[in-house]
Amino acid sequence: MKEASAAGLRMMADRGVELQTVDKSPDEVLKIGYGSYLANAGVCDVCHVSTDGTAYAGGVPFAVDLEGNQVLGKNLTPDARTGMKLSEAQFVETMRTGKDFSVPEDQAPQQLVVFPWYDYRWLTLADLSAIYAFLRALPPVESEVPPAQKGAFFAAFTPVAFPARFDQGEEDRDLSPEDADVDGVSRGASISPLAGELMDAGSTEKQRWSIARGSYLVNTLGHCSDCHTNPSRDFEQNSPRYLRIGTENFLSGGFAFPVFPAALTKQIRTMSSNLTGAEHGFLNAASDSEQRFLDTIDSGMKLDGPGAPRLLGWPMPWDNFRLMTRADLVAIYDYLKTIPPRLHAADKQTQTVARYCEADSDCLGEGERCELASSECAGTSCAALADCGACQSCSDAACVAPAADDACFFHGL
Ligand code: HEC
Ligand code: HEC
Repeated sequence: MKEASAAGLRMMADRGVELQTVDKSPDEVLKIGYGSYLANAGVCDVCHVSTDGTAYAGGVPFAVDLEGNQVLGKNLTPDARTGMKLSEAQFVETMRTGKDFSVPEDQAPQQLVVFPWYDYRWLTLADLSAIYAFLRALPPVESEVPPAQKGAFFAAFTPVAFPARFDQGEEDRDLSPEDADVDGVSRGASISPLAGELMDAGSTEKQRWSIARGSYLVNTLGHCSDCHTNPSRDFEQNSPRYLRIGTENFLSGGFAFPVFPAALTKQIRTMSSNLTGAEHGFLNAASDSEQRFLDTIDSGMKLDGPGAPRLLGWPMPWDNFRLMTRADLVAIYDYLKTIPPRLHAADKQTQTVARYCEADSDCLGEGERCELASSECAGTSCAALADCGACQSCSDAACVAPAADDACFFHGL
């Protein structure tokens, strides 16, 4: 009897689901699902969450200077009053040119700030369309996001027309037609920022697919180079190299991040890892393997080297990346392995996590104390900069906390 009613309930539930989605064709459901997959890989949710944790409702502030100017992640849900009002064509334009549609038409056009549209712009139209369909299918959330205050410097930045060729790397390349590019594989082959023919690196059809798919994910949604390349780009608006990636240092780390909320993560400052350096790069370590890469992303842990195992520094989005399929994660690894090792000054000895503290008892290493002015453990014994937390210096064999206006906060290593 009990079993029979459970089965009946199940049938009614299935029927209910059918009724609920009756206005969506199987193709639409497929598109929305794939859009959701892509949005996760693009880490959209992390910046577009609300301050109380509601997905895609927006409102998290990002400081853009020291004068109090800030931009906020927008509400991307379809709420009629406070949500995203862009048509699909406008959405594509925003993703491809950075255009800020909140600026009235009769004013000079502006560019959105902090939002990494200059990576997402290379997504295929089919994938942009899937992401849009997913955002439209979200439950509407009423969440009023205050307008951005970009400050005079960033307000002068204008949208950038979508180019006919990939022009952000060492050499410009044609963008292949995308109609038949289901996996973004042709696109992936043309947007790797390093010179040379990417596809020469794979010896089988399957490997070539994987490498190109990996390039697509790394150089669009994953936006790895925004955090792992320092300097990441040439952001001088009128320079001929505008938006080009700092390829000499491609993915060799060294960018510093202040951590919010420090008390929760026990980290006050982090530095992106060197992935590609000949001697100090994660991918060129003796312990490197596909499995170690997958384990790193799955666990969010630094698995070997000094101080390991320990949690990876925030904001590495491993908890988004680990939800990708194994094939996509292997593709990312396969692509990263084609990158020639970065040498000399570009092969950075990046620093470990600077730990947050409130009292000396939070810092238990030899000679350590809590530097109360900046809430970080200092005094740690060191032989090199890499033994110290992000932006600390090593002086007389002990780590010293940085000054409040240390250049490292903006320029990293
Ligand atoms: C690093 C943080 C960050 C990430 C990651 C991010 N965004 Fe944003 N996004 C922002 C911020 C901040 C703004 C507003 C910027 C401004 O006002 O200048 C914005 C604005 C937008 C807008 C304009 C909305 C409107 O109503 O005009 C769209 C669309 C958008 N983001 C979509 C996305 C999608 C899709 C993804 C993932 C593929 C994504 N964003 C990932 C920070 C981010
Ligand atoms: C928002 C910034 C950000 C983005 C985007 C990002 N990372 Fe990271 N990544 C970091 C930080 C910070 C660390 C942590 C460094 C530490 O713990 O010392 C890190 C660590 C890592 C590590 C661990 C390295 C080690 O030494 O154990 C790997 C691997 C990695 N990232 C790969 C990637 C890949 C691949 C992408 C793109 C698909 C990516 N990251 C995108 C910021 C980022």
